[in-house]
Amino acid sequence: MTINFNDETFYGDFTFRNSPKAVQRFPFPFPEDSYMYSVNLEPHKSYRPGSVYERTFDVDEHYVAEMKDRARVLADDPLRCQSLPHMTLAGWDLVELIMTAKAEEYPDLFELHRDGDRWRWINRPLGIDDTFTFLDETTLPYGPMEYITRQTQGDFAILDQRDDNLWMDAGMVTTQADWSLDFDIGMNFFEWHAPVPKAHEMGVFVRALKFLLNIQQGAPARRLNWTMTINPLLDTSPENYHKWGAMKQELTAENVGRMMHLRVELQTLFRLPRSNALVFPIRCYLIRLEDLVTVPKWGRRFHRVIRDLPVELATYKGFINNRPKIVEWLSKYDDGAPTSPGI
Ligand code: HEM
Repeated sequence: MTINFNDETFYGDFTFRNSPKAVQRFPFPFPEDSYMYSVNLEPHKSYRPGSVYERTFDVDEHYVAEMKDRARVLADDPLRCQSLPHMTLAGWDLVELIMTAKAEEYPDLFELHRDGDRWRWINRPLGIDDTFTFLDETTLPYGPMEYITRQTQGDFAILDQRDDNLWMDAGMVTTQADWSLDFDIGMNFFEWHAPVPKAHEMGVFVRALKFLLNIQQGAPARRLNWTMTINPLLDTSPENYHKWGAMKQELTAENVGRMMHLRVELQTLFRLPRSNALVFPIRCYLIRLEDLVTVPKWGRRFHRVIRDLPVELATYKGFINNRPKIVEWLSKYDDGAPTSPGI
């Protein structure tokens, strides 16, 4: 296989590591030295070979370990995956979207053979070889959305479109930045975004929704979002806050570089053909600060972004109390040189 999959964990002993190649292709999200929310949407087109933007669904060295972590989280809490009854067709749309894209773009890892509605799916990294009938749930071990998202990195929200709004009526959410599918299920675009500071007053959500309602089949969109995470935790859910929240107290001037991680979400949006639903994959990339600052222009810029981030955003993103320690550590990597716009 073309990718060497890491044997690693995202909890307990935290053996997660990025190879030099993974560091080099990390989606650093800051085109300038400061950050504020915006409608940062662009076409999800393939570019920069080797980058996380090359393929429809990026598969990387963390794939197998992330799928094991998802299975672990689901075993503990099955409500991380929910699909309201009217969303089953969208689940099948998603099966088709992911299987066709992966088989075409990673032929050494995945194969899809279709004979009418009899489909054979081979997933080599996970050792799966299943034959099923498309649109017949009884022929899969799980519902269609759960089946394919247990095999695909990133969280997934599936949005039903009606009444000029989007409704979170299905999802697979095990790698989230402190929000809960079980809480948000059935909410609309403005309701589930209610806790976000500043963006509502800036009109970000009204404009973003207008854009999303008009996304057409075959013309997906993407954006980046980011936050900070203590330890390489994929599952920073409210449900498990009692397990990871206290870790924030463990940060010291000595361990900042090792414990603190920049968490970047590559969020994409696809219109689904039969259901007219939108699918919103949220793919999480983690990088420890020690690795981030090996790219001098990233270290320099990240110091300025974190130092100058509005208090409301640093509070919402959950690192306001640790900000002084993080800024102090990062300041060693900022020589004050001017930076150029762009990533
Ligand atoms: C945060 C879902 C699209 C901007 C969030 C949160 C959720 C979410 C669940 C966390 C809210 C909380 O604190 O409980 C979604 C879904 C989308 C979507 C399912 C697809 C339809 C967008 C778009 C934009 C956007 C298109 C903007 C252009 C934001 C911002 C935050 C946020 C700025 C705060 C993030 C942070 O500071 O870390 N979103 N979102 N979202 N969303 Fe969305």
